[in-house]
Amino acid sequence: MTWLQDFAEICQADAPLADRTWYKLGGAARWLFTPRDTDELARLLQRCKAENVRCAVLGRGANLLVRDEGFDGAVIQLEHPHFKGCGVSGQTVVAGAGLDFTRLILKCLDVGLTGLEALAGIPGTLGGIVRMNAGGRYGQIADFVDSVHVVTPDGVCETRPAEQLGFAYRETNLRDEVVVAATLRLGRDDPEQARARYKQIWQEKSAAQPALRQRSAGCVFKNPPGDSAGRLLDQAGLKQAAVGGAQISSKHANFIVAGPDATARDVLQLIEFAHARVLDRTGVDLQLEVRVL
Ligand code: EPU
Repeated sequence: MTWLQDFAEICQADAPLADRTWYKLGGAARWLFTPRDTDELARLLQRCKAENVRCAVLGRGANLLVRDEGFDGAVIQLEHPHFKGCGVSGQTVVAGAGLDFTRLILKCLDVGLTGLEALAGIPGTLGGIVRMNAGGRYGQIADFVDSVHVVTPDGVCETRPAEQLGFAYRETNLRDEVVVAATLRLGRDDPEQARARYKQIWQEKSAAQPALRQRSAGCVFKNPPGDSAGRLLDQAGLKQAAVGGAQISSKHANFIVAGPDATARDVLQLIEFAHARVLDRTGVDLQLEVRVL
């Protein structure tokens, strides 16, 4: 295909994705692109649309399960330094979508900007965190977003103010747009207290959730309104339920941990099994939080 020649320098064909995800499972992408700036990304998106090629953006793969058969399309990763910048002006931070979120939290604390520490321990890139409105018990990224900078599938760069993003629990209205940066508004509270809070949240998480070295993608299901998916799965007797090499964590029932022999199919079958059991026992139709590619 000739269109690929225009992007040869940033394209890898049949690129294995497993090692780019926390699960370390799944097949290859037909193509993996790593654009070097926003213009190149815009041209790539335009061309993919014109050629009817499906696109998916891959962040740190912390909330992602890649199917064993892989992804028959273009996976785009914003790992070029162009997408990892961070500028501070007063209490406003403009940061690139490819920036590691934990790094961003620590960077903000270093310059005395507070707030993001409430989201300690959420792995991912800023782009991924924004796109799914990631959060936890103490807040969500929507609490800090002023606007988001995106490129549309037509290759148009747009700035969308927070109120146009449809922020809801683990949700935004961003679909085919690629987030390239976000403008955040932070606070200026006592940085020592903020650091203490950051540590405390990490400790709470490690007490309640499987260790980060275990292969998982965080919570599998969204919490249903007013309830906890973990509690429902636990009450349905699903802790330690297994399919092949995939097992529901004994520490927190909303985590599926992959053992050495696991396949993506094992995880998907266990998800189906757990979903059906909870539906049968409680009538609750749990919705996936993990993204499946
Ligand atoms: N619970 C059980 N059994 C379990 C798990 C939980 O009984 O196996 C009970 C707990 O005892 C608690 C309640 O369920 O009373 C809620 O559990 P937890 O405090 O662990 O919080 P969660 O609602 O399960 C949410 C987020 C997590 C985030 C934590 C802490 C969702 C789906 N989950 O979990 O996010 O880390 O709060 O902030 O919103 C993720 O998004 O990937 C994720 C892990």
